[in-house]
This record gives sequence, structure tokens and C-alpha cells, in this order.
Amino acid sequence: MSLFSLSGKIALVTGASRGLGMAMAQALARAGAVVVLAARDKVRLEEVAAEFRLEGHEVHVDAFDLLDEDAVVAAVPRIVGRLGRLDILLNNAGMYQTSKLLDSTLELWRRTIDTNLTAAYLLAREAARAMIPQKSGRIINVGSYVSVLGRERMQAYAASKHGLAGLTKSLAAELGRHGITCNAIAPGYFLTDMIEPAADDSALIQAFTNAIALNRWGRPDEVGGAAVFLASDAASYVTGHILHVDGGVANIVCIRPVRGVASCESL
Ligand SMILES: NC(=O)c1ccc[n+]([C@@H]2O[C@H](COP(=O)([O-])OP(=O)(O)OC[C@H]3O[C@@H](n4cnc5c(N)ncnc54)[C@H](OP(=O)(O)O)[C@@H]3O)[C@@H](O)[C@H]2O)c1
Repeated sequence: MSLFSLSGKIALVTGASRGLGMAMAQALARAGAVVVLAARDKVRLEEVAAEFRLEGHEVHVDAFDLLDEDAVVAAVPRIVGRLGRLDILLNNAGMYQTSKLLDSTLELWRRTIDTNLTAAYLLAREAARAMIPQKSGRIINVGSYVSVLGRERMQAYAASKHGLAGLTKSLAAELGRHGITCNAIAPGYFLTDMIEPAADDSALIQAFTNAIALNRWGRPDEVGGAAVFLASDAASYVTGHILHVDGGVANIVCIRPVRGVASCESL
């Protein structure tokens, strides 16, 4: 059995209808897990499930809104009732909206925190209820490079992602004795629907590219390996960790030559 095999494992992936969540769900399925795909758009989830089934994977669909507390709390017991257990919770779904501080609203703040952080806490709490009697489980939260850095016009988003880092470490501390690990994946820049508003602005895209050590944006499939690793036996002794999958953004200050400045290398 491969160190990275997820054969026999049941995984719930939120935000699995597109982008990074879909890519990570596919990677888990390819590693052998039975995957439950979650998001709001049931039609889209069924399309993704059909694609995965063509590859021969067992997948299920469970549509619910992370802003509906009752629906969030009911999700894990429903999945355990249907499939018998839950081994992996991948809290990936999130929303992203920027605003200048003075234009920002409490509504945006609350919606961002509730979607990105509170729902992850509720799902982790309910997953832990199922995982503790099993004496095993993997909780993986998807943060961001702004889990450890700040950025302008991102009060709510950065706060939610810093909060996820704190939640990850706190859950790791509390659940370790039950054989449950909790880690986070912190993506950098990936061209998904989430950054769609900026996708056509080539100058902006280039400005971000200049800050990436690998000098390119990530492909969604490049997050899959981190998800499989953290969910698998290969990460049996890894907990409370934030795994940056960002081509070199959060741990590196990358200064590149710009027009009019010959080189920064001698600075
Ligand atoms: N893309 C990046 O560069 C980047 C960078 C750093 C971190 N991240 C993080 O990575 C994760 C995935 O990002 P992405 O780029 O793949 O985003 P995306 O393409 O916008 O996908 C977001 C996913 O979350 C689901 N979702 C959003 N709001 C929801 C709600 N209220 N209830 C249930 N599901 C909801 C969406 O499905 P429905 O609309 O059908 O509900 C969708 O499946 C997020 O946590 C994001 O913050 C992304």
C-alpha cells in the first residue's frame, strides 16, 4: 500500500464545484478516497461528479450553503449516516471581496468571516464528533498567503484567513490525543474564478507574477499534492502546520527589475 494511498477513506471537500476545491477533490479521488463534493450549486456539483465518475471514482454530491448554520451543522451527520464514517474534512470553500477600509461594510465583514471561518469551525466541530470515536481523522483548512501576511483592502478576508490559521493550530492541539491531525494549506496566486475580476488586467497579473519566486501563477492541479499528502499516512506525524503552496510568496520577498531600473540584484 502506497504511503500516499487514500483507499477506503471518506472525504468531504467544500467548494468542490470549481477551482482549487475541484482540483483537490480530484486528487483525493485519484488517490483512492470516496469523495463527497460540496458547494451551493447542485447542478454544477453533479457535472463535476459525472466527470469524476468517468475516471472510475466513487463520488457523492451534498449541496448546502455555508451561510446556513443549520445546514452546515447537519452536513457531517448526514454524510456519516450515508457513508458510515468521515476520515477527511477539507475546508476549502471561501469567498473573496476587497474593499477600501472606509468604504467597507459590516455586512461584507460578517459574510466573509461567516463563510471563510465560522463555517470551517462548525464543520470541524461536527467532523471531530465523528472522528474522535474512530480515533483517527484529518482536518485540512484552506487558508491563504494572507493567513500570515497582510494586504491592503483585505481587512475581512485576511482576518478570516489569519483566523483559519489560529483555528488550525488550536484544533491540532486539542484533537491530537484522539489521533486526529489538523493542518492548513495556504495557496498563493492561482487563476480561478475567485480572481476573475483581475484576470483581464495583464499589468496587474504581471505585478503579482513579479512577487512570486517561481515567476508564474499556480495551476489549480498544483494544490492537489499538498491535499493528498496531508490526508495520507505520509503526514501521520504532521499537525498544526501551515503548508504554503505558493511558488514562493509568503516566505520570500521577491524584488525584480522594473522598467527604468536596470537591476535590483546589486542592492
Ligand atoms: N485562487 C487563489 O488565488 C487563492 C489564493 C489563496 C487562497 N485561496 C483560497 O482557496 C479556496 C478556493 O479558492 P478558489 O480560487 O478555488 O475559489 P472559487 O473558484 O471562487 O471557488 C469557491 C468555491 O467555494 C464555494 N462557495 C463559495 N461560497 C459558498 C457558500 N456560501 N456556501 C457553500 N459553498 C460556497 C463555491 O461554490 P458555489 O458558488 O456553488 O457555492 C466554489 O466551489 C478559498 O478558500 C480561497 O480563499 C485561493
